Amino acid sequence: SPSDPDLVERARAAKEKLGDKVFVLGHHYQRDEVIQFADVTGDSFKLARDAAAKPEAEYIVFCGVHFMAESADILTGDDQKVVLPDLAAGCSMADMATAEQVAECWDVLTEAGIADVTVPVSYMNSSADIKAFTGKHGGTICTSSNAKKALDWAFEQGEKVLFLPDQHLGRNTAVRDMGMSLDDCVVYNPHKPNGGLTAEQLRAAKMILWRGHCSVHGRFSLESVEDVRARIPGVNVLVHPECKHEVVAAADHVGSTEYIINTLEAAPAGSKWAIGTELNLVRRLANRYADQGKEIVFLDKTVCFCSTMNRIDLPHLVWTLESLAEGNLVNRIEVDKETEAFAKLALERMLALP
Ligand code: 13P
Ligand code: SF4
Repeated sequence: SPSDPDLVERARAAKEKLGDKVFVLGHHYQRDEVIQFADVTGDSFKLARDAAAKPEAEYIVFCGVHFMAESADILTGDDQKVVLPDLAAGCSMADMATAEQVAECWDVLTEAGIADVTVPVSYMNSSADIKAFTGKHGGTICTSSNAKKALDWAFEQGEKVLFLPDQHLGRNTAVRDMGMSLDDCVVYNPHKPNGGLTAEQLRAAKMILWRGHCSVHGRFSLESVEDVRARIPGVNVLVHPECKHEVVAAADHVGSTEYIINTLEAAPAGSKWAIGTELNLVRRLANRYADQGKEIVFLDKTVCFCSTMNRIDLPHLVWTLESLAEGNLVNRIEVDKETEAFAKLALERMLALP
């Protein structure tokens, strides 16, 4: 939808007044009305790397979700303040693994005698607590753009991986990129005693997948892939690795939001694409390439926005920028020092991956 011109002008004026004091980061799933004010846009990996790119900025306004703002706080200087325009912009997947549940899981692995040979690999989409757990136990963070590298590294450190919290990214990477079989993976359910697994199952597994998922990407089904192939002959199906394994297995290309954008940029005129990821991004790309003759459609028939990403809208951004311009620090995201130290260890292992 077109943005309110009055709000656009207010955001522009407040940003101009702040000048170099503010650095605005925008994830690719953000609304157009918000993304137009981002100094940098990116996938989760690029935004984690770029968060520290402007050390002179006093405020980092993160247009994305809570775990991304936490990661930016961990990776930037103590004098830089990270701000999330709406504190209710969380991520349901990140909420599926709590520190207590993960500590309990580690006890279960210890009981089964495998904790010593297990390396935690946590998806960026997790709380700072989970990242700290990961750092403390010798593990690394990964995003959808470096999950294979993270697993390669982890299997050099140990024999098994505990993958948190997205079972789909873990399974898809293990099977599609690492040549493992579905039988090498087990799913640990935090709501069942011992994760719903026997000690024998845990000892036999290579990948212990946490039972978490993304509700947005979970909507895409094998049927949506089959439907679009029937509807649009010659279509290329391109999906995010947070989709279910059967969807990823039936797709032509799989990758992060940045990969999706680069693939469509490089696609020849006349090519046809069905994209399985969040709708703000798919609509933006469909519009961007329409006049170049690239046909880009959404993979599913139903509408799939990420409701928490969408919480950051132009009114929230205007309120945030105007507050900061008036010297009013609002909605700061600050990770406590002890959590930060261990979480940073895990994030830096990711940034050091080849
Ligand atoms: P990427 O931008 O890293 O592909 O992640 C997608 C996502 O779901 C972030 O929440
Ligand atoms: Fe979380 Fe899914 Fe939204 Fe990404 S798209 S922020 S994983 S709920």
